[in-house]
Amino acid sequence: ARVVVLVSGSGTNLQALLDACDDPAYGARVVAVGADRGGIEGLARADRAGVPTFVKKVKDFTTREHWDRAMADTVANFEPDLVVLAGFMKLVGQEFHDRFGGRVVNTHPALSPSFPGMHGPAEALAYGVKVTGCTLFVVDDGIDTGPIVAQRAVEVADDDTVESLHERIKTEERAMLVDAVGRMAREGFAVDGRTVRFGPVR
Ligand code: GRF
Repeated sequence: ARVVVLVSGSGTNLQALLDACDDPAYGARVVAVGADRGGIEGLARADRAGVPTFVKKVKDFTTREHWDRAMADTVANFEPDLVVLAGFMKLVGQEFHDRFGGRVVNTHPALSPSFPGMHGPAEALAYGVKVTGCTLFVVDDGIDTGPIVAQRAVEVADDDTVESLHERIKTEERAMLVDAVGRMAREGFAVDGRTVRFGPVR
């Protein structure tokens, strides 16, 4: 399966996918990496892996819709079977949903439906949950609200900081992402309402 990954930062989730794709039995290949900003480690990781990259900055476009269309057009050029948002800090818009609906997954460092948005680990810590985790979901037009593909639980330690907690979540998150993307690539998947099933699309 052809996978395009969108990143905005360090790209450790991307790196986990790149490493997994080295195994021909994994069933997926990262064919491009896109970002909403330049100069990030995620793009350097793609370069080191010899994977084509592209950057589309919102500020370079007259409207958000134009940015969204440019992003969608560029992603479409790589003919992805699956688009993975891994630490991508922009909300994709209607054009993206129309073009790739149902084939875009996003990883979130909290147990949905808890703590959607940009500060999952911080909100989990502030709330005082004893268990948090990460979620992989199929992107819909909400914010971190789509049908869930996979989740992993992570215990919160009494002395956790946001950073220590997020790092521990990311360890589980990378394993969750590699496992789920590999299954989606090898087995296929279908979304039926709020249920995501692996296996050939019936
Ligand atoms: C991940 O935890 C992702 O869920 C969150 O930001 C982090 C990105 O990490 N949105 P990386 O860029 O993959 O290292």
